Amino acid sequence: MKNTPIAFGICGLGRIGAQHCEHFTEHADRYKAVAFCDLDAARAEGPAQQYGGTPYTDFAQFLANDEMELVIIATRSLDHAANAEQALAAGKTVLLEKPIGVTAQDRQTLLRLNREYPGKLFFCHNHRFEPAFANTQAIIAEGLLGNVQVVKIHKYHDFSRRNDWQMRLDCGGGQLSVWGPHLLDQAIQYIGAPIRDVWSYLRRVLTPGDADDHVRILLTGENDIVAELEISNAVALTGPYCTVYGDRGTLMYNQEQTELHLKYLDPEFNWPAATASGDTPALARDTYGQAELPWIEETRAVEPSVNMWAFVEQEIARHLHNTLRNGVPFPVKNEDALEVVRLTEIVKQQNPQFNWID
Ligand SMILES: NC(=O)c1ccc[n+]([C@@H]2O[C@H](COP(=O)([O-])OP(=O)(O)OC[C@H]3O[C@@H](n4cnc5c(N)ncnc54)[C@H](O)[C@@H]3O)[C@@H](O)[C@H]2O)c1
Repeated sequence: MKNTPIAFGICGLGRIGAQHCEHFTEHADRYKAVAFCDLDAARAEGPAQQYGGTPYTDFAQFLANDEMELVIIATRSLDHAANAEQALAAGKTVLLEKPIGVTAQDRQTLLRLNREYPGKLFFCHNHRFEPAFANTQAIIAEGLLGNVQVVKIHKYHDFSRRNDWQMRLDCGGGQLSVWGPHLLDQAIQYIGAPIRDVWSYLRRVLTPGDADDHVRILLTGENDIVAELEISNAVALTGPYCTVYGDRGTLMYNQEQTELHLKYLDPEFNWPAATASGDTPALARDTYGQAELPWIEETRAVEPSVNMWAFVEQEIARHLHNTLRNGVPFPVKNEDALEVVRLTEIVKQQNPQFNWID
């Protein structure tokens, strides 16, 4: 068992399902495709011919495939929790796409499934594995930025009138569901503490759908670190993807996530003891205490230099294999993923102008 490839199937062979097909079959020693399921028969038959395995159009028949150990669920968002429950009940291990749940009821279902099926349910928060995010975490751990105060993560999509089902609330769409889970998941890693406060506003700016295409969320941790998140289809002049403010420096990287820009105090430097004076300052230029500081400025290439979109897929596949075959803990903790759903619910309550489905 330990050395055999994981026999897997995918339900939902649309845009992301196709990516999963490609990347979960890259290492034949880790995964073996055995089943593909889509309501559209041609979408199941194509991968079955290309990667091997049996095509299905019926989820229950797909789940009855005895060889299949792992089911990757990449159907529409509103079906995720129910699909996961059926697959777990059929004895399968499940990798569930984000948003792992859309409604309050979904969250209750997932909390229960997480209790009832320990070690069987995994969540596909694949953008946890963005190289720029990992590089930034390492730089913070090294102490170069000092104590982190604020993290800003801003995902700007093309300025566009997105018009697919992901922009309809009755289909479980909206950027809160589309990119919200990725940014909330990253934010939780920075804050590293229970979230104390949530503030948000959501807007429908350009989309012809009824869902949010501009999202702004502020989170504060018990440790007082603030995460400012923005996701938008409606910003024409965009800023950085991520900025981290520490009390010894700042880090920033662009939307392309290719380079990290850093400005930080020389690690050898210690602030001399000082107090703030209540006296009237002398008529000199430098009266605010801004002496020459030993700054180090650097631009570092993000490592590894890879196609980020493919890499996050390859990494989730690699980690899941390591977990299922070698017992290594899966880096995306279920508590964190379930916290993302709780935060999403709070944001929805703060934005009653949208016609959220229950
Ligand atoms: N983690 C990521 O990076 C990432 C990226 C894109 C999409 N997603 C998520 O993946 C899900 C799918 O997104 P998409 O863009 O691929 O959607 P899509 O509409 O392109 O594809 C969905 C596919 O599922 C099939 N399907 C729907 N209901 C089904 C059912 N009951 N049984 C079998 N097949 C069914 C459809 O026919 C379609 O082929 C969404 O929830 C989305 O949020 C995640």
